[in-house]
Amino acid sequence: MDKLTKEQRRKNMQANKSSGTKPELLLAKILFAGGYRYRKNNKAVFGKPDLTFKKIKLAIFVDGEFWHGKDWEQRKHDHKTNKEFWSKKIERNIQRDKEVNQELSKQGWYILRFWSKDIEKNLLSCVSQIKSTIKDLKMDLKEKISLENFGDKQFKIKLVEPDNNHEAVLTHYLHNNKNGVSQFYKDNAIAFAKEILEQKYPDENISLKVVEEALRNGVFNNSHIAFPPDKNPKFKFIDLFAGIGGFRLALQNLGGKCVFTSEWDKYAKKTYKANFGETPFGDITKDSTKSYIPDGFDVLCAGFPCQAFSIAGKRGGFEDTRGTLFFEVAEIIKKKQPKAIFLENVKGLRNHDKGKTLSTILNVLREDLGYFVPEPEIINAKNFGVPQNRERIFIVGFHPNTGITDFSYPEPSDEKITFADVKEENVVPTKYYLSTQYLQTLENHKARHESKGNGFGYNIVADDEIANAVVCGGMGRERNLVYDDRIRDFTPTTKIKGEVNRQGIRKMTPREWARLQGFPENYIIPVADASAYKQFGNSVAVPAIQATAKEIIKKILG
Ligand SMILES: C[S@@+](CC[C@H](N)C(=O)[O-])C[C@H]1O[C@@H](n2cnc3c(N)ncnc32)[C@H](O)[C@@H]1O
Repeated sequence: MDKLTKEQRRKNMQANKSSGTKPELLLAKILFAGGYRYRKNNKAVFGKPDLTFKKIKLAIFVDGEFWHGKDWEQRKHDHKTNKEFWSKKIERNIQRDKEVNQELSKQGWYILRFWSKDIEKNLLSCVSQIKSTIKDLKMDLKEKISLENFGDKQFKIKLVEPDNNHEAVLTHYLHNNKNGVSQFYKDNAIAFAKEILEQKYPDENISLKVVEEALRNGVFNNSHIAFPPDKNPKFKFIDLFAGIGGFRLALQNLGGKCVFTSEWDKYAKKTYKANFGETPFGDITKDSTKSYIPDGFDVLCAGFPCQAFSIAGKRGGFEDTRGTLFFEVAEIIKKKQPKAIFLENVKGLRNHDKGKTLSTILNVLREDLGYFVPEPEIINAKNFGVPQNRERIFIVGFHPNTGITDFSYPEPSDEKITFADVKEENVVPTKYYLSTQYLQTLENHKARHESKGNGFGYNIVADDEIANAVVCGGMGRERNLVYDDRIRDFTPTTKIKGEVNRQGIRKMTPREWARLQGFPENYIIPVADASAYKQFGNSVAVPAIQATAKEIIKKILG
């Protein structure tokens, strides 16, 4: 093996400038000549890949052998001078490449990495690999688009509700007619109900009195609510960033009454309404939305998206969080002073921005808002009766006036449960089975990553195992494939490339995801599969939330 002298290293480094290197240019040129259009070094994409195809989310990197540590385990001993210095540098790069892969995969990107020398030596085979990946991804996109078309809109476009809380006001009014909270929504609810009735009966004179009477007589009531609240609720809570109501289910099961809910995604709202009969309010950052939050609720629940703060001083405070969704939560806590708070987030919050994000959150809750907040706990759903390895961070807090100064998170249950317990009882439709072509793409992808020492790729969950975390985007579905050889009819029912695979490999169904998250059988899934996967992947494992909430409620109700 050749040892690296200074001269050799200088040459290596020259050949490995970070962008615009020869092999990379060569590749770009050939693709361009073949009619492929890409962006070079797009800063907007994490890790600034050498080439990106935005529509199909394909990122291509051309890695110099030296900087990116090809065959590092053997080569690391080659450095003769300044060994430690170079090892550190290159190992940092290797680590960085891994992180870039992870983050891009999480964001739903497909990644191709080539060694510079391979491009130089086997240019045509690299190009044909890229072309075939592009083809596959385009197919995939087509499938996705056809799945994700609703009415005249595509799901891929973020659908945010028009700024109109009418339906939310009306349903919140109707749902709170026994607990005094409805007074809070009354004026707006009557105004909106009047509009609806006027539209429906254009020839009638609809006075406010008529509207009130109509409301009293339950014209808008939906008596078939899958998950009605307890008739004699023991406490009140609000459900922020509500998604499809994972928190709501758990807290209702403990005798709670939800008095306000906010969620801006149109399809999540649809699922929420189908199950709870209530339409969530929209964008929580808007004052108009916040103005509808009633006073006097006991628990604030929120699974807010995690964002970095720009902290000026050493320990971040309230003002440093301005402009983030946590700030909105903190403001509501400050204004409404609930007895308890229950926040949930991804496990990565612990190390997010080198731990600064979490320490700022804790600092704001403890110091600025005065809450008793015990050390957050990482809770795994698999310990609470669902066969899913899902770790999430739970943060709970108690208002200073409660006098609560200690809290224990729930003990894991030792119930053994596996995927077999949630598997579909019957043969599932053919559309859930992978095409031979897609399976091949997954196998290639996995082999490439494995040869680079990365633990990526698809995964098949055996019946006696537990599932990986269900997540929206990235490889969420592919990391949770299953064997199911009950299929008899292999005729494709959707447009696929190749045939339906004969090994019995399929995606889990949305209902299986619902069960993995602990949603009951009668939970209604009123949206198309693509939305349902997104919603369950974004949601919470209800039993883990319920076990923790039970401890919170025990404390505040004494
Ligand atoms: C991680 S999910 C929480 C899911 C929820 N805990 C459940 O059980 O389904 C975060 C949710 O916050 C919603 N969201 C994000 N920003 C929002 C905003 N400004 N106003 C209202 N909802 C928002 C998203 O649409 C998403 O559904």
